[in-house]
Amino acid sequence: MKKKIITIIGARPQIIKSSAISRAIRTSFRDDLEEIIVHTGQHYDENMSNVFFEEMQIPYPDYNLNVGSGTHGKQTAKMLEGLEEIYLKEHPDAIIVYGDTNSTIAGALAAIKIHIPVVHIEAGLRSFNKRMPEEVNRIACDHMSSLLFSPTQTGLTNLEKEGFDITYRGKANADTPVVYHCGDIMYDNSLYFSKVSDEKSTVLTDTGVEKNNFILCTVHRDSNTDVKENMNAIFSALLDIVKESGLNIVLPIHPRTKKKMKDQLDEVLYDEIQNTPQFKIIPPAGFLDIIALEKNAKMVITDSGGLQKESFFFRKPCVILRPQTEWVEIVNNGNAILADADRIRIKEAFQKLIHKKDYTFPNYYGDGKAAEFICEKIIEMLN
Ligand code: UD1
Repeated sequence: MKKKIITIIGARPQIIKSSAISRAIRTSFRDDLEEIIVHTGQHYDENMSNVFFEEMQIPYPDYNLNVGSGTHGKQTAKMLEGLEEIYLKEHPDAIIVYGDTNSTIAGALAAIKIHIPVVHIEAGLRSFNKRMPEEVNRIACDHMSSLLFSPTQTGLTNLEKEGFDITYRGKANADTPVVYHCGDIMYDNSLYFSKVSDEKSTVLTDTGVEKNNFILCTVHRDSNTDVKENMNAIFSALLDIVKESGLNIVLPIHPRTKKKMKDQLDEVLYDEIQNTPQFKIIPPAGFLDIIALEKNAKMVITDSGGLQKESFFFRKPCVILRPQTEWVEIVNNGNAILADADRIRIKEAFQKLIHKKDYTFPNYYGDGKAAEFICEKIIEMLN
């Protein structure tokens, strides 16, 4: 009999991630799985949410809780209430959550309390920094899950250290969870949408940049945008890099960063950025555009987890605007450098990576078929 699963999405990267599983269900598992999609409404701007459903052919959500923005407690509480109601009405056989956002923790917590099995995709990742809301969310979510899918070997090792029996292959439930190392569904998506992006994206012409003459940059972490000193250090470094290298910087801007730039940046720096034509601040980019930018950039500078990895998929070096990362492989292999929000370290990392010649790109993230593997294992658990 067909099993019913509910997929919880809310933040931009989850909408993107979920497309890989929805696609796999549509093409290979439609007789086994029925998917109901619930959008918490954590992200709600047109270009933070809607655009992805259209261009990535994701079915529109069956429910939208419209929780919007708020403090962590308030936002998560609203989600819990709404999700529980839907679970009680729909009686799913399992729910799927992605990554580490407030939508992830709410989806998992509402489910385990009423004994619905939780499937966590992107399990095991750790930054070992509990000041990050995401670190708290993913640890808690992993420990509420029945099926855990780690994209990397590092994730698997992290789970083992926390007491998970990673060799267990019996019946999966919350007390005896089953853990798999399955590769990264974002690698599936990057491969799949790379061709579509070549055909459809016009972002390079629209932005006025050419292949290899620009840096792709994103900044959105609260530790960078909400701490004045950090935001000034990052944007000063970017301006220095633009001036010294002659490259353009393309910065698709998260709504939170846009709001904070004016309040937090020193006036002179803010004005200089506005008056430097090489600084190209554009609205948040859709997935096809972000792929086109990643593929054609000279380098990526970011605090986003997704972009760090996608820069590796498209063989670009990356300066990471964080003190630590969950994607340690790319740092250990010399593809990326942790520079935090430190003006000097950001500039040094840029110089080092731009002059480095001996890049290698080992296969850390699977074979592009993680979604199929995940669906098979979910079906196995439910039968
Ligand atoms: C969330 C995730 C983060 C993820 C990111 C991806 C948590 C704790 N964090 O961070 O892990 O990397 O999504 O993008 O869940 N805003 C808008 N319009 C929107 C969405 C947000 O204006 O559509 C503004 C609001 O001012 C809001 C702020 O951005 O307060 C932060 O949004 P929020 O969803 O709380 O966290 P993100 O920073 O987006």
